[in-house]
Parts: sequence; structure tokens; C-alpha cells
Amino acid sequence: MTVILHAENVNFLYGEQHAVRDADLTLNRGEVAAIMGSSGSGKSSLLYCLAGVLPPASGTVTFDGMVLSSLPDVELSALRRERIGFVFQYGELLDELTAEENAALPLRLAGVPKDRAHAAAARILARLGLGDLLRRRASKLSGGQRQRIAVARALVHQPDVVFADEPTGALDSSNASTVLEEFLRLAKEQDTAVVIVTHDPQVAAKADTQYMMVDGVLAQSVTA
Ligand SMILES: Nc1ncnc2c1ncn2[C@@H]1O[C@H](COP(=O)(O)OP(=O)(O)OP(=O)(O)O)[C@@H](O)[C@H]1O
Ligand SMILES: [Mg+2]
Repeated sequence: MTVILHAENVNFLYGEQHAVRDADLTLNRGEVAAIMGSSGSGKSSLLYCLAGVLPPASGTVTFDGMVLSSLPDVELSALRRERIGFVFQYGELLDELTAEENAALPLRLAGVPKDRAHAAAARILARLGLGDLLRRRASKLSGGQRQRIAVARALVHQPDVVFADEPTGALDSSNASTVLEEFLRLAKEQDTAVVIVTHDPQVAAKADTQYMMVDGVLAQSVTA
């Protein structure tokens, strides 16, 4: 097994608030890791550090042999754009773009021609149940539909790792499990590793590795 991501002694603070304490995590290529934990325990903060969105106060995050904090800004942005996917807890789509345009963005930014990028986006959106809404603007879609577009966008460029922060929090439980199953299937097909934050023990049980976060401390749990 090849390690794609390795975090060691990661600490993150918001002022006095110690959000992540000495977190260690190793992720292999294609592995699915689930992180559970109550609200405010530091899950989103940890994901931001692992994905290079926010720099940790101390500790190291190594992505495919590269220490994120040692990369120049342009290289870190390129790495995040090309090799990482992120589903933010609150969607973060571009309202004026259509479903298809939003999902195709990572490919367009990588210089893939519009036709090919849109075709790839449409294929994933269809698998997530949005095949009929490709040309609808994001501002005219429901919360759950927007989340599915965010999932498609995080996978469309076949990244090495996708970080998903409660990616189905806005969906009802039956739709949530359908979308999650499809999400994990798509990730497996393209050998994308997944770090998913979830409150659902059934989702966590489907992961290869389970973690629990309590007051900023991350621990691997034996049972889901
Ligand atoms: N922008 C911020 N400024 C200051 N403190 C923050 C900020 N964001 C989060 N925190 C604090 O950091 C801690 C960890 O927050 P974080 O968002 O990582 O938790 P979480 O586990 O993702 O919670 P949730 O399940 O509610 O999304 C919390 O105590 C929170 O209040
Ligand atoms: Mg959160």
C-alpha cells in the first residue's frame, strides 16, 4: 500500500481556541477514512489543515512526499486544484453558473476543453441523480441538490484525495445513503482516497478506517 497523505502532530488554533491537538493520520491511496465527533470537536478545522486550506500552527502534513508548509503558494494552489477535491460543509458553489459548469470547474481550470469537461461533469452528475438539472443555475437548486453538485465537482478531475465535510448533511436519510454509496463507488473506481466527516455511524461503518474526534483530539476507533 502506498501512503498518499501523512499528518503528524498537527495543531490548529483560532486565537485561544485550540481546535486541533497533536493530530496524526495516515491515508493510503484509495483508502476511505471516516471522522466522527460532536459539533465543535475540530473536524472541519482538521480537514482544512489536511487539505492545505489553512496552515497548521505546528506539525506537518505530507502529501505524496511533499510537505505542504514547505511549498511555495503557487505550487500549493496547483496541488490543491489538481490533486485534491474538497466538499465544503456549506456547499460553496458559484451561484451564477449552472450545475454542469460548477461541476466541470476543476477540469476547466486545468485547461480541459469545454466539451470534454462538461461531458465528464454530466456523467458524474447523472450518477448522483442530477441528470435532468445540468443546465439549471446553482442559485435555483435546493440545498441537497447543491451538495450533490459539490460532490461531483470534488471528484470530476480524478484527484488523489477528496475531503468531504458532511457532504450529505442537507439530504434526507434515504437520499443521503444513495448519494454516499455512489460517491464512494465513484471514488473507488478512480482510486481516489476519501476523508469523510459524518455523523452517521452507518456511513462510518462503510469506511476502511474510522476516527473519532473529541475536543480537538483525533483517535482511531476500533469499532465504527
Ligand atoms: N472562524 C472561527 N473563529 C474562531 N473559532 C472558531 C472558528 N471556527 C471554528 N471555531 C472553533 O473551533 C472549534 C472547532 O471548530 P470546527 O468547525 O472545526 O468543529 P466541527 O467539529 O467541524 O463542528 P461541526 O460538527 O459543528 O461542523 C470550535 O470550538 C469552534 O467554536
Ligand atoms: Mg464542521
